[in-house]
Amino acid sequence: MLREAIDWLLTPSLPLARRSGHLGEFVAIAARRRRNAAAWDGHEARSRAAVLRAAGAADPAGTALILGAGHVNDVPLEALSDRFRAVILVDLAFARVTRRRARRLGNVVCHPHDVTESLGALAEIRQPAAWLDDPSVSFVASVNLISQLATVASRHRDDTEGERIARALAEAHLRWLTRFACPTCLIADREVEIVDRDGTVTATLDPNKGARLPDADEEWIWDIAPRGEVDRRFAVRHKVIAIDRVNR
Ligand SMILES: C[S@@+](CC[C@H](N)C(=O)[O-])C[C@H]1O[C@@H](n2cnc3c(N)ncnc32)[C@H](O)[C@@H]1O
Repeated sequence: MLREAIDWLLTPSLPLARRSGHLGEFVAIAARRRRNAAAWDGHEARSRAAVLRAAGAADPAGTALILGAGHVNDVPLEALSDRFRAVILVDLAFARVTRRRARRLGNVVCHPHDVTESLGALAEIRQPAAWLDDPSVSFVASVNLISQLATVASRHRDDTEGERIARALAEAHLRWLTRFACPTCLIADREVEIVDRDGTVTATLDPNKGARLPDADEEWIWDIAPRGEVDRRFAVRHKVIAIDRVNR
């Protein structure tokens, strides 16, 4: 808890993220990963491999735009830096260690930005448009981000309103991705499973609240919360999919 409080104070972030609770979530994700590093390993490796595979179709003379880069555990940062002329990491906040890692690589920048362009005023969800008119962008990857767009927004609302916002944000994100002219890949949670001691799935939930994701090129399980992390009896796991080219 002390480590999380210090991280919250010291992590540079958009003021909006600090006020809204997103920075708290950002710090909590890093702590959850520290507790469950071994269980998350396979998911992170497959995410990195899927991003690289999709990047193979993109022009290396351009810029790779990585959305939801976060702590950059599921992003093949060094390989992207080698491959592309420039890399832009996008998130609401960046840990100091990530900023140092980016600076060392020379062609990587951390760009704090709300990809929904709506978090400040959720009553009217806008259609994101950032970077669409930037001809230097030759590859876009949205990495384990889409189901997170409404995590904080849903918290203080009733279920119906929370789900409406989550679906609208996810659909606007998908529309934005399809409007890029360059190869654009999506790695996303498709389903949340609650699993009991015997390994039986007792409930499944839709993390995108009805937003329809494109067909997957690959699918795997992310053991996001092994038993004991959120409950003594139940584990939570996510079905994750990779779509190599959303805008084909
Ligand atoms: C599950 S994490 C992705 C994992 C991350 N790639 C990593 O390796 O740590 C989701 C990320 O999405 C970011 N995020 C959530 N809402 C966002 C928004 N509106 N704009 C930009 N980033 C956002 C969070 O800050 C978090 O870093």
